[in-house]
Amino acid sequence: TGYITLDSGYKNTGCTKSAITFLDGEKGILKYRGYPIEQLAEKSSFIEVAYLLIYGELPTQTQLNEFEELLKEHSDVPEQLKTILLAFPPEGHPMGKLCSVIASLSAFYPESLKPNASESEQNLTLVKLLAKLPSIVAYIQRHTLSHSYVASDNNLDYVTNFMNMAFGGHAGSTKVDPVVIDAMNKLLILHADHEQNCSTSTVRIVGSSDCNLYASVAAGVAALWGPLHGGANQAVIEMLEKIKNDGGDTAKWVAKAKDKNDPFRLMGFGHRVYKNFDPRAKIIKKACDDILNKLGIKDPVLEIAKHLEEAALNDPYFAERKLYPNVDFYSGIIYRALGFPTEMFTVLFALGRLPGWIAQWKEMRENKEPIGRPRQVYVGEVDRTFVDIKNR
Ligand code: CMC
Repeated sequence: TGYITLDSGYKNTGCTKSAITFLDGEKGILKYRGYPIEQLAEKSSFIEVAYLLIYGELPTQTQLNEFEELLKEHSDVPEQLKTILLAFPPEGHPMGKLCSVIASLSAFYPESLKPNASESEQNLTLVKLLAKLPSIVAYIQRHTLSHSYVASDNNLDYVTNFMNMAFGGHAGSTKVDPVVIDAMNKLLILHADHEQNCSTSTVRIVGSSDCNLYASVAAGVAALWGPLHGGANQAVIEMLEKIKNDGGDTAKWVAKAKDKNDPFRLMGFGHRVYKNFDPRAKIIKKACDDILNKLGIKDPVLEIAKHLEEAALNDPYFAERKLYPNVDFYSGIIYRALGFPTEMFTVLFALGRLPGWIAQWKEMRENKEPIGRPRQVYVGEVDRTFVDIKNR
């Protein structure tokens, strides 16, 4: 096996050519299809960004209207799918429910199984997923909280409709507050794609076997769930709560994170590619301040987060290893301010990442990429003779 180059964790192995997302980790630059993330987060809407990622260009007003209409047309989920969700224990983790429900879409829409579907058939398959995910996510949240379901309202735009389905029908409904809708759009845009991260490369590798989009995305959801990836947003809030309840001594927790005999890591810190700063974290930190101010919310964990960040950034351990806050460090504080339960945070990451997964899956198919099949360096026994069980 001398000709195989070992690269555990693919730290330096490119697996594809892609024209979707540009990322410069040293300079902290992130662009979707050439447009800086800062401009998109400031000026665009999530659906416009989804269109850009999936089809390659910003839509004209007519294209955007048509796309939004198409999404509305397909926003309902089949009744049987709701029955599937009801069969889960409400307290079960929402990511487990999300993963199963997305995979099950292939059973409801068997046309998605055709590996050589026409362009329009393939487009309908991806539109259905994008259209239904807000309903699915809202339904999962309501099921988890044992609330009854609020139907999709086609008079509302994508993000407002989602917030209405998630929170409508209850006191304190946030549906009409433009501050909230704006914050959600921003968060979803910032999560929409991030080139070949763990979940996206999972979607691509599963899809490379000609597996359907729904099952490929369900695999991506599973990859996202882990606390080293998207699950970090839930882990950050849990960590901040723990620090708060422990007296708020951030220096103590920074010391724990540095201790190589302690498995504790500073959640929401560090990134495989960003070695200077995570541009998404910068935008989110500012948005977090703005939103909490506008909503008049004082969250004590925000203060803990800021102290923790400062303590870590002034510590040589973090400086030497180029560890900075990542996208997950402040996002949870915003989700919390908007009223989402902590266990829903990674599901919201998935809602945001969906256009990226779809775009990457589509690009891989269009480029006719070969099946993904990494090699290994075998380090086991090489030459043994079978021993009968009674002689072992
Ligand atoms: N706290 C303490 N030490 C850390 C941390 C951390 N959060 N992250 C990395 N290190 C140390 C690590 O122990 C190692 O030290 P040494 O060189 O002495 O052995 C060094 O920094 C390099 O770390 P690594 O684990 O080799 O780096 P990686 O590129 O394999 O891992 C990471 C990247 C994001 C998984 C890691 O930084 C981490 O576990 N962070 C916490 C979880 C987190 O916030 N994940 C979200 C990532 S961004 C959004 C997303 O991808 O979904």
